Amino acid sequence: MTLIDGKAVSEQVKKEIAAEVADIVAKGGKRPHLAAILVGHDGGSETYVAAKVKACEVCGFKSTLIRYESDVTEEELLAKVRELNADADVDGFIVQLPLPPHISEQKVIETIDYRKDVDGFHPINVGRLSIGLPCYISATPNGIMELLRRYQIDTRGKKCVILGRSNIVGKPMAMLMMQKAVPGDATVTVCHSRSKDLVRECQEADILIAAMGQPNFVKADMVKEGAVVIDVGTTRVPDAFKKSGFKLTGDVKFDEVAPKCSYITPVPGGVGPMTIVSLMKNTLLAGKKAIY
Ligand code: GUN
Repeated sequence: MTLIDGKAVSEQVKKEIAAEVADIVAKGGKRPHLAAILVGHDGGSETYVAAKVKACEVCGFKSTLIRYESDVTEEELLAKVRELNADADVDGFIVQLPLPPHISEQKVIETIDYRKDVDGFHPINVGRLSIGLPCYISATPNGIMELLRRYQIDTRGKKCVILGRSNIVGKPMAMLMMQKAVPGDATVTVCHSRSKDLVRECQEADILIAAMGQPNFVKADMVKEGAVVIDVGTTRVPDAFKKSGFKLTGDVKFDEVAPKCSYITPVPGGVGPMTIVSLMKNTLLAGKKAIY
């Protein structure tokens, strides 16, 4: 069994990005600039955005954090999005989700200029991904593809089962795994809460990607001997022994599943660190105006 070290790969990719940025700047080019909008004080969102700002620093990007209280109006937020769309110094930006219930996330996403949508959430980017055109790809699935690539995991013709059909992980993951590419070329099944025979589907998977947000859902008897298991789960489970008061818990019961796998990602330290690195890769693309 090989443990997929997302932390180490993410450090390596950040180094590669930083070297490319140094090269761009040395040649008189512009340092890529990522802006992030954070609404309210949700603990998870605060942590993620702080990590994104820190990663920008490591990669040599300029970053700007724009904060609003949770009573900001939808119109005020949309006005800021339009301002960032028009700001030539900002190459790409994100609006951290979730947003308060009085603001339409879809409206916000669709107001972002797709050429600056480094999250890859805009319908133009999602549509382009589905037909294999250049686009910004959603961070978590793109990070998983990078891990499969760097570990040279063979996906061609393999049965890939994805648990979860979210717009930001399950669906784009399915698109990427089925596309004619390396990694890719897999036979993809997407399972969700209404799937019949979900256990049998999992048992047949050569590559199992668990992204439904249910801690310890995948047990040893659901996994084929020699399978590749990718755990996207990051549920905060209360833990009195942790300083933070919680333990980040994956969708896979790691201890019993790991011995059966050829490759497996741990939680934390697997997919998580790659997600932020994918955003950095998209920001570099934005800086280079590679998506238009
Ligand atoms: N909330 C959880 N994940 C993400 C993400 O990748 N991007 C944004 N903008 N919000 C999120």
